[in-house]
Formats: sequence, C-alpha cells, structure tokens
Amino acid sequence: MNARVREGDPWCLPAGWPPPVAAARRVSERLVAQLQGEIEAAGGWIGFDRYMESVLYAPGLGYYSAGARKFGAAGDFVTAPEISPLFVDCLAETAAWVLRRQGGGILEIGAGSGVLAAGLRRRLGELGLGCDYAILETSASLRQVQAETLAGTEAGLAGVTWLDRPPAAFRGLVLANEVLDALPVVCFRVERGQVREYGVGRQGAGFGWRPAPGAGRCPDWLEAGDLPEGYASEYRPMLGPWLATVTGGLEAGGALLLDYGYGRGEYYHPQRDGGTLMCHYRHRAHPDPFLLPGLQDLTAHVDFTAVAEAASAAGLAVAGYTTQLHYLMDSGIDRHLQRRAGAVGGADYLRLAQAAKTLMLPGEMGERFKAIWLARDDGTLPPGFRGKNFLHLL
Ligand SMILES: C[S@@+](CC[C@H](N)C(=O)[O-])C[C@H]1O[C@@H](n2cnc3c(N)ncnc32)[C@H](O)[C@@H]1O
Repeated sequence: MNARVREGDPWCLPAGWPPPVAAARRVSERLVAQLQGEIEAAGGWIGFDRYMESVLYAPGLGYYSAGARKFGAAGDFVTAPEISPLFVDCLAETAAWVLRRQGGGILEIGAGSGVLAAGLRRRLGELGLGCDYAILETSASLRQVQAETLAGTEAGLAGVTWLDRPPAAFRGLVLANEVLDALPVVCFRVERGQVREYGVGRQGAGFGWRPAPGAGRCPDWLEAGDLPEGYASEYRPMLGPWLATVTGGLEAGGALLLDYGYGRGEYYHPQRDGGTLMCHYRHRAHPDPFLLPGLQDLTAHVDFTAVAEAASAAGLAVAGYTTQLHYLMDSGIDRHLQRRAGAVGGADYLRLAQAAKTLMLPGEMGERFKAIWLARDDGTLPPGFRGKNFLHLL
C-alpha cells in the first residue's frame, strides 16, 4: 500500500506512457463496472486480495484471463524461461533427478506462454526421460497460448494435459516459476500500534484505499509492535490452502518453486516500509494498483518463511532454499552454456552469455530470486540445492 498512488481515474496515465488500445480500454471499463458493483453490494469495501484476484483473473476480463500479450519484449514483463533456455536446462537437471528416482511425471502450475514446458520437455527428451506433463493453469487464454507453443515443438502435444484441478494422486515433480508472486495479497498499515487492514473502495471513476470496517484480518505471526508506526506491507493468506491443494496428491517426489522474495525477517524489515506490491505495464514498473484495472500485472514478493510454514503444514519437508544464482550454478549453468556454445555462432554465444549474466548477477535476478525445494521423500537434495543452502534465513 503506497501513499504515492494517484487514486480516482484509472485510465489517466503518466505523460509518455502508451495508452491501451480502444478494445482493451473497453474490457477494462467493463471490469471496473463489475468491481464497483461488487463493492456497492458488499457495503462499500472489499479486501485487497479480492480486488487483486479480480483484476488478474476475472473470467474474460482480468489481466491473465483476457487475451492481451503479457510476456516478452512486446508484453509487460519478462520471466527467466523467456530470457534464456539456460534457465530451463538447469530446471531440467532437478526434474531429471526426480524422474530417475521416483518415476512419474511433471505438474507445472501457471505455465505462462508455455516456453518453460516446451524447453523442459525438449531437454528431458534428449536425456531419454520423456514423461507425462500436466499443466494447471487458471487462464483459459493462456492455456491456448501454451497449446500453440507446445504444438510447435518436435514432441508436440503428446503426453501433455491441462487440468482443472490438481491430480488426486501422482508422483514426480511439481513446478511453479513466478506463480506465487501472482497469488493475491492482503494489505495492512500499522496504526496506533495495531495492524490495520486496508482494502478497496470506490473513488471517482475508479478505486482508492480504504481501511477495513471493523477489526480486519491479521495473521497470528504478524506483530504490530515489531514494526514502526505507519509501516505498510502485505501478506498472502491463501498461500497455505493453495500449497496444500496443489501438493495434496503428491505421493513421492517434490515441489520446486522459484520466485522473487525473502525470508520473513528480511521481508518485513523496518526499512522495507511500503511493502513490495508492484505493477507492470509495458515494461514500466510502478506502485499504483488502481491504474488500468485488468490491463497491468500486479505482483508482490514472496515471504519464503510463509512458504516453508505452509509446506510443513502440508506434510512436505522443507529441504532446500537458495538464491537463483546458487541454484543455477549448482545445476551446471556453465556446463549448459558450453554445450550450447558448440551449437551456435559468435553472436548467439554472446547473447547466451549475456542472458546468463542477467539470470545470475546479484544486481539483476541472481539474489532477489530464490528457489525452494519441498520434498515428499527422504529429503535428499536434488541438483540446484547441493551448493549453498540458506534454510537458516527462513
Ligand atoms: C508471471 S506468470 C509466470 C509464467 C511462467 N511460469 C513463466 O515462468 O514464464 C504467472 C502464471 O501463473 C498463472 N497462475 C496464477 N495463479 C494461478 C493459480 N492459482 N493456479 C494456476 N495458475 C495460476 C497465470 O495465469 C500465469 O500463467
């Protein structure tokens, strides 16, 4: 929750920003009308988690549910598998280890454009480890994009299924890259020594921050006394139920989750006042969640201590936690770079090496992004987690 947001007109963009095309603006207007009606019906206030869920996932209207291009240079943001196949090569190391030990297949959650699925299937095929690949994806339009991406690969759609809910029983690998950050958050501010929930009310043609009527929500672990007066941040109440649901049927294997975030001590550091809620529109990052409803991405960093707590509650062993830099190094990114270098020319090699830097440099993605390994077995560490393990930071 950030005091600098300009509340009230959701389509008034800062100078120089590209406006949405007319059709996109009309979708946004329908979403705003729908949400304003919901707020009226609820007595003038909804939680920020409900707002975030709607602007990202409202069927046919939300950011991930409507058809606009999101990923890559022409979209709003770029994810690691879109940056380089080297990232996918490294994930394939963990996947191959799981498949050799446990058999089974892969369940990918939130597959985006399908680039990770395509690359992983290709690499596992090269290793003689072709397997079933299930995708759990909330967005109907992204399912379509994923199917097109995968249909264009050598293996095609053989063995690929899209699920409406997690399988009741399976073994192998659960994989989610940059999905946790897209799960809705609840916002709060410390006021007079108490945690005060802030949600959303109508303001002008759009929306503005409003304190919760009544006591609002506050998780057990969140102590206002540890934080300065006026401190604002967020947390993710649905993380526990979500993780329990997606891993509930996992009988053997583990879950590999990657995202940007911190352990709780670092996340709720007094100096991180304002929280981590961030919006992305055409590669512009800014803090106003009420701008362009449905046309921009909303995200917040991941509290990996909350992930670890949720995993323990779901009966998983929290076995490994490391930075993306160390995950990639331990998965042999330099070896993959050399292997690929043999197959490409000079300019392509430079591009690969540059992308590896983006993935690994501490000032880029190397330290802000983390990988966590949640095991449903004896807790032996897979490739990626045998180098540096930072479990003590959770
Ligand atoms: C930021 S994108 C990441 C895409 C991809 N994993 C990548 O690395 O490029 C988030 C993805 O998660 C999906 N998603 C968000 N919440 C989800 C949920 N609860 N269940 C399944 N998919 C979800 C979105 O629709 C989108 O495909």
